[in-house]
Amino acid sequence: MARRKYVVGNWKMNGLAASIDEARAIFDGARAYGAIDVALCPPFTLVAAMATATPEGAVGGQDCHSAASGAYTGSVSAPMLADAGAALVIVGHSERREGFGESDADVRAKAEAALAAGLAVILCVGEPRGVRESGGAIDYVLAQVAGSLPAEFDPARLAIAYEPIWAIGTGLVPTVGDVAAMHGAIRAQLDAQVGADAAAAMRLLYGGSVNGDNAAELLGAGDVDGALVGGASLTAEKFLPIVAAAA
Ligand code: G3H
Repeated sequence: MARRKYVVGNWKMNGLAASIDEARAIFDGARAYGAIDVALCPPFTLVAAMATATPEGAVGGQDCHSAASGAYTGSVSAPMLADAGAALVIVGHSERREGFGESDADVRAKAEAALAAGLAVILCVGEPRGVRESGGAIDYVLAQVAGSLPAEFDPARLAIAYEPIWAIGTGLVPTVGDVAAMHGAIRAQLDAQVGADAAAAMRLLYGGSVNGDNAAELLGAGDVDGALVGGASLTAEKFLPIVAAAA
Protein backbone atom coordinates (compact mmCIF):
# COMPACT_ATOMS: atom_id res chain seq x y z
CA MET A 1 0.00 0.00 0.00
CA ALA A 2 1.40 3.41 -0.97
CA ARG A 3 1.85 5.72 1.98
CA ARG A 4 2.28 9.46 1.42
CA LYS A 5 5.51 10.82 2.82
CA TYR A 6 5.07 12.91 5.94
CA VAL A 7 7.51 15.51 7.23
CA VAL A 8 6.67 17.14 10.54
CA GLY A 9 8.47 19.99 12.24
CA ASN A 10 8.49 20.07 16.04
CA TRP A 11 9.43 23.58 17.10
CA LYS A 12 9.65 22.55 20.78
CA MET A 13 9.92 25.67 22.99
CA ASN A 14 11.00 27.93 20.14
CA GLY A 15 9.05 30.60 18.29
CA LEU A 16 7.37 33.93 18.92
CA ALA A 17 4.62 35.68 16.96
CA ALA A 18 7.13 36.86 14.35
CA SER A 19 7.88 33.22 13.55
CA ILE A 20 4.48 32.86 11.87
CA ASP A 21 6.13 34.40 8.80
CA GLU A 22 8.65 31.54 8.80
CA ALA A 23 5.83 29.01 9.04
CA ARG A 24 4.14 30.63 6.06
CA ALA A 25 7.40 30.43 4.10
CA ILE A 26 7.71 26.75 4.98
CA PHE A 27 4.19 25.86 3.84
CA ASP A 28 4.50 28.03 0.72
CA GLY A 29 7.78 26.37 -0.19
CA ALA A 30 6.54 22.86 0.58
CA ARG A 31 3.67 23.24 -1.89
CA ALA A 32 6.19 22.90 -4.73
CA TYR A 33 6.77 19.28 -3.74
CA GLY A 34 3.21 18.13 -4.36
CA ALA A 35 2.14 14.78 -2.97
CA ILE A 36 3.74 14.98 0.44
CA ASP A 37 2.24 15.88 3.80
CA VAL A 38 3.99 18.61 5.77
CA ALA A 39 3.00 19.76 9.25
CA LEU A 40 4.37 22.08 11.92
CA CYS A 41 3.94 21.78 15.68
CA PRO A 42 4.74 25.12 17.31
CA PRO A 43 4.38 25.98 21.01
CA PHE A 44 0.76 26.19 22.23
CA THR A 45 0.90 29.99 22.15
CA LEU A 46 1.30 29.97 18.37
CA VAL A 47 -1.12 27.20 17.38
CA ALA A 48 -4.20 29.36 16.76
CA ALA A 49 -2.37 32.15 14.94
CA MET A 50 -0.36 29.72 12.83
CA ALA A 51 -3.42 27.66 11.97
CA THR A 52 -5.17 30.82 10.79
CA ALA A 53 -2.18 32.09 8.83
CA THR A 54 -1.47 28.76 7.09
CA PRO A 55 -4.54 27.27 5.39
CA GLU A 56 -3.23 23.71 4.97
CA GLY A 57 -4.83 22.34 8.13
CA ALA A 58 -1.42 21.05 9.12
CA VAL A 59 -0.62 22.76 12.41
CA GLY A 60 -0.41 20.70 15.57
CA GLY A 61 0.35 20.69 19.26
CA GLN A 62 3.38 19.08 20.90
CA ASP A 63 1.43 17.45 23.73
CA CYS A 64 -2.06 17.31 25.20
CA HIS A 65 -3.67 16.24 28.45
CA SER A 66 -5.65 13.01 28.50
CA ALA A 67 -8.67 14.69 30.09
CA ALA A 68 -10.95 16.95 28.08
CA SER A 69 -11.10 19.61 30.80
CA GLY A 70 -10.63 20.02 34.52
CA ALA A 71 -8.33 21.21 37.28
CA TYR A 72 -4.99 20.62 35.56
CA THR A 73 -3.10 23.87 35.88
CA GLY A 74 -0.83 24.59 32.94
CA SER A 75 -2.22 21.81 30.75
CA VAL A 76 -4.02 21.96 27.40
CA SER A 77 -6.55 19.35 26.30
CA ALA A 78 -7.03 17.75 22.91
CA PRO A 79 -10.45 19.40 22.35
CA MET A 80 -8.82 22.76 23.16
CA LEU A 81 -6.15 22.14 20.55
CA ALA A 82 -8.79 21.23 18.00
CA ASP A 83 -10.75 24.33 18.98
CA ALA A 84 -7.63 26.42 18.33
CA GLY A 85 -7.38 25.00 14.80
CA ALA A 86 -4.89 22.20 15.34
CA ALA A 87 -5.16 19.15 13.12
CA LEU A 88 -2.69 16.91 14.91
CA VAL A 89 -0.71 16.47 18.10
CA ILE A 90 2.55 14.81 19.10
CA VAL A 91 2.30 12.50 22.12
CA GLY A 92 4.97 10.57 23.98
CA HIS A 93 7.96 12.64 22.90
CA SER A 94 10.99 11.56 24.94
CA GLU A 95 11.26 15.09 26.30
CA ARG A 96 7.82 14.46 27.85
CA ARG A 97 8.42 10.83 28.81
CA GLU A 98 11.75 11.65 30.48
CA GLY A 99 11.21 15.22 31.64
CA PHE A 100 7.64 14.78 32.92
CA GLY A 101 7.65 11.11 33.85
CA GLU A 102 5.05 10.07 31.28
CA SER A 103 4.48 6.32 31.14
CA ASP A 104 3.28 4.24 28.22
CA ALA A 105 -0.19 4.24 29.81
CA ASP A 106 -0.14 8.06 29.99
CA VAL A 107 0.89 8.28 26.35
CA ARG A 108 -1.83 5.85 25.32
CA ALA A 109 -4.46 7.88 27.20
CA LYS A 110 -3.28 11.04 25.49
CA ALA A 111 -3.39 9.39 22.08
CA GLU A 112 -6.93 8.17 22.73
CA ALA A 113 -8.01 11.63 23.87
CA ALA A 114 -6.48 13.22 20.77
CA LEU A 115 -8.17 10.79 18.39
CA ALA A 116 -11.49 11.29 20.16
CA ALA A 117 -11.10 15.05 19.63
CA GLY A 118 -10.61 14.52 15.90
CA LEU A 119 -6.85 15.12 15.88
CA ALA A 120 -4.30 13.03 14.05
CA VAL A 121 -1.57 11.66 16.30
CA ILE A 122 2.18 11.29 16.07
CA LEU A 123 3.16 8.83 18.77
CA CYS A 124 6.85 8.89 19.69
CA VAL A 125 8.99 6.00 20.85
CA GLY A 126 12.75 5.61 21.20
CA GLU A 127 15.51 4.16 23.30
CA PRO A 128 18.12 5.85 25.50
CA ARG A 129 21.82 5.50 24.68
CA GLY A 130 22.51 2.80 27.29
CA VAL A 131 19.79 0.57 25.90
CA ARG A 132 21.14 0.97 22.38
CA GLU A 133 24.65 0.15 23.55
CA SER A 134 23.51 -2.95 25.41
CA GLY A 135 21.77 -4.30 22.31
CA GLY A 136 18.26 -3.99 23.70
CA ALA A 137 16.92 -1.17 21.53
CA ILE A 138 14.42 -3.15 19.50
CA ASP A 139 12.87 -4.91 22.50
CA TYR A 140 12.69 -1.59 24.38
CA VAL A 141 10.95 0.23 21.54
CA LEU A 142 8.55 -2.60 20.76
CA ALA A 143 7.48 -2.61 24.42
CA GLN A 144 6.78 1.13 24.13
CA VAL A 145 4.70 0.53 20.99
CA ALA A 146 2.76 -2.27 22.68
CA GLY A 147 2.07 -0.16 25.76
CA SER A 148 1.35 3.21 24.09
CA LEU A 149 -0.83 2.31 21.14
CA PRO A 150 -4.59 2.80 21.54
CA ALA A 151 -6.71 -0.32 21.26
CA GLU A 152 -8.63 1.01 18.27
CA PHE A 153 -7.74 3.76 15.83
CA ASP A 154 -7.86 4.79 12.22
CA PRO A 155 -4.40 3.85 10.90
CA ALA A 156 -4.42 6.82 8.54
CA ARG A 157 -4.61 9.12 11.56
CA LEU A 158 -1.90 7.68 13.74
CA ALA A 159 1.77 7.74 12.83
CA ILE A 160 4.61 6.39 14.92
CA ALA A 161 7.84 8.37 15.18
CA TYR A 162 10.96 6.41 16.10
CA GLU A 163 13.33 8.82 17.81
CA PRO A 164 16.41 7.33 19.45
CA ILE A 165 16.92 9.63 22.43
CA TRP A 166 20.68 9.77 21.95
CA ALA A 167 20.17 11.13 18.42
CA ILE A 168 17.93 14.04 19.41
CA GLY A 169 19.69 17.38 19.05
CA THR A 170 23.12 15.73 19.17
CA GLY A 171 24.12 15.49 15.52
CA LEU A 172 24.40 11.72 15.99
CA VAL A 173 22.28 9.46 13.81
CA PRO A 174 21.87 5.68 13.68
CA THR A 175 23.12 3.84 10.63
CA VAL A 176 20.62 3.43 7.83
CA GLY A 177 20.70 -0.29 8.58
CA ASP A 178 19.78 0.31 12.22
CA VAL A 179 16.92 2.63 11.22
CA ALA A 180 15.62 0.09 8.71
CA ALA A 181 15.89 -2.73 11.26
CA MET A 182 13.98 -0.76 13.88
CA HIS A 183 11.26 0.38 11.48
CA GLY A 184 10.91 -3.14 10.11
CA ALA A 185 10.55 -4.49 13.64
CA ILE A 186 7.92 -1.86 14.48
CA ARG A 187 6.00 -2.66 11.29
CA ALA A 188 6.11 -6.39 12.10
CA GLN A 189 4.83 -5.77 15.60
CA LEU A 190 2.04 -3.55 14.30
CA ASP A 191 1.12 -6.32 11.93
CA ALA A 192 0.67 -8.66 14.90
CA GLN A 193 -0.94 -6.03 17.13
CA VAL A 194 -3.42 -4.30 14.82
CA GLY A 195 -3.53 -6.51 11.73
CA ALA A 196 -1.81 -6.47 8.37
CA ASP A 197 -4.05 -3.91 6.67
CA ALA A 198 -3.80 -1.35 9.46
CA ALA A 199 -0.06 -1.91 9.86
CA ALA A 200 0.47 -1.38 6.14
CA ALA A 201 -1.47 1.89 6.24
CA MET A 202 0.43 3.42 9.18
CA ARG A 203 3.26 5.84 8.61
CA LEU A 204 6.52 5.37 10.47
CA LEU A 205 8.66 8.49 10.85
CA TYR A 206 12.29 8.73 11.85
CA GLY A 207 13.42 11.59 14.14
CA GLY A 208 16.75 12.62 15.61
CA SER A 209 19.24 15.08 14.07
CA VAL A 210 17.62 14.98 10.63
CA ASN A 211 18.97 17.74 8.40
CA GLY A 212 19.24 18.65 4.74
CA ASP A 213 22.45 16.68 4.37
CA ASN A 214 21.33 13.35 5.83
CA ALA A 215 17.59 13.40 5.05
CA ALA A 216 17.76 11.60 1.70
CA GLU A 217 19.71 8.71 3.18
CA LEU A 218 17.56 8.38 6.32
CA LEU A 219 14.31 8.74 4.40
CA GLY A 220 15.51 6.13 1.96
CA ALA A 221 15.80 3.49 4.67
CA GLY A 222 13.31 0.64 4.58
CA ASP A 223 9.91 1.32 6.16
CA VAL A 224 10.68 5.03 6.71
CA ASP A 225 7.69 7.13 5.61
CA GLY A 226 8.91 10.52 6.73
CA ALA A 227 10.66 12.50 9.43
CA LEU A 228 9.97 14.27 12.69
CA VAL A 229 12.38 17.19 12.72
CA GLY A 230 13.36 19.44 15.61
CA GLY A 231 16.14 22.00 15.19
CA ALA A 232 16.17 21.93 11.40
CA SER A 233 12.43 22.71 11.20
CA LEU A 234 12.70 26.24 12.57
CA THR A 235 13.48 27.95 9.26
CA ALA A 236 12.38 27.41 5.68
CA GLU A 237 16.02 27.44 4.65
CA LYS A 238 16.80 24.37 6.76
CA PHE A 239 13.45 22.57 6.60
CA LEU A 240 12.63 22.71 2.90
CA PRO A 241 15.67 20.64 1.82
CA ILE A 242 14.34 17.89 4.11
CA VAL A 243 10.90 18.17 2.50
CA ALA A 244 12.60 18.02 -0.90
CA ALA A 245 14.48 14.88 0.12
CA ALA A 246 11.22 13.22 1.13
CA ALA A 247 9.38 14.12 -2.08
O1 G3H B 1 10.78 16.02 17.67
C1 G3H B 1 11.87 16.12 17.12
C2 G3H B 1 13.01 15.38 17.59
O2 G3H B 1 13.14 15.42 18.98
C3 G3H B 1 14.28 15.60 16.85
O3 G3H B 1 14.93 16.79 17.21
O4 G3H B 1 15.87 17.18 14.96
O5 G3H B 1 16.53 18.61 16.89
O6 G3H B 1 17.29 16.24 16.75
P1 G3H B 1 16.24 17.23 16.41
